[in-house]
Amino acid sequence: MAVLTLEQLVHDVDRLPPLPQVVLQVSQLLEDPHIRAEDLAEAIRMDADLTAQLLRLSNSAYYGLRREITSIKEAVAILGLKTLKSMIYTILSHQVLDTPVEGYLLDRGALWLNALAGAEFARHLAQHYQYPEPDTAFTAAILRDLGKVVLSDYVGPAYRTLELYSKDEKQGFNEAEQSLLGFSHTQVGEQLARKWNFPQKLTLAIGYHHTPSALPLDTTEADRLLVTVIHMADSFTMMLGIGVGSDGLMYPIDIPALEHIGITVNNEWVETTMMALLPLQAKAQGLSTSMMSSNNTVAGGQSS
Ligand SMILES: [Fe+2]
Repeated sequence: MAVLTLEQLVHDVDRLPPLPQVVLQVSQLLEDPHIRAEDLAEAIRMDADLTAQLLRLSNSAYYGLRREITSIKEAVAILGLKTLKSMIYTILSHQVLDTPVEGYLLDRGALWLNALAGAEFARHLAQHYQYPEPDTAFTAAILRDLGKVVLSDYVGPAYRTLELYSKDEKQGFNEAEQSLLGFSHTQVGEQLARKWNFPQKLTLAIGYHHTPSALPLDTTEADRLLVTVIHMADSFTMMLGIGVGSDGLMYPIDIPALEHIGITVNNEWVETTMMALLPLQAKAQGLSTSMMSSNNTVAGGQSS
């Protein structure tokens, strides 16, 4: 079985397309609490593709605006910086995640739909459990399985062994990946997040979305809540069978992490939460459709 060394991991991560400079610049600007709309619009304008995709997405049915947005400055004014930020991460993630991930038996589009459904669930759960930045939860959930894209080549040939290990050792698939392949998809995703200079809270959410209890001891309560929200969102996408691959239900719920935020995990809680999340599947599908059409028409996008 091929075991992934740190050197190979760094090499594989480097094979992925680098984050466009403008996206890096824009995402760093968005972390600045004193950012001015003009500066942001100016930075985005440097990238015609990103501008066109943002405008198309702003005007898509998903946002349901009554008037047409024709410039980034207008998009910032009408949709707000937080929405724009999650849109930028959504566009970035689409480029990486809308691909077949054969090692996990995911056809093209499956990982992407799972990411979007998880994101809609995470935004809802963030609001419900009083996490103050629901848009950040949306973004973190979209990005959570980035590592699968890199780890796929290793998981495919080793799948049967991973599955048996997971069953025999009563370990989650994530732990099986780590024990047998050297790294789990959460650790690979964390490396990617670091390489792309994502904010610390997104990096933590990617790295610990299956095991929030294992977060470093010095993690703030706010970040702990975010990661637990992403863990719940991920678990419910699996339970509902949305874009689920070969690793399917082989991820246990981290009960201590849920208890830490005051949740008693029982059938009633699972059913109530599931009923609240079910209608959001259609929203995720709608966003996926909007992204497709914004991508297909990007060549004709406006560049204001
Ligand atoms: Fe995952």
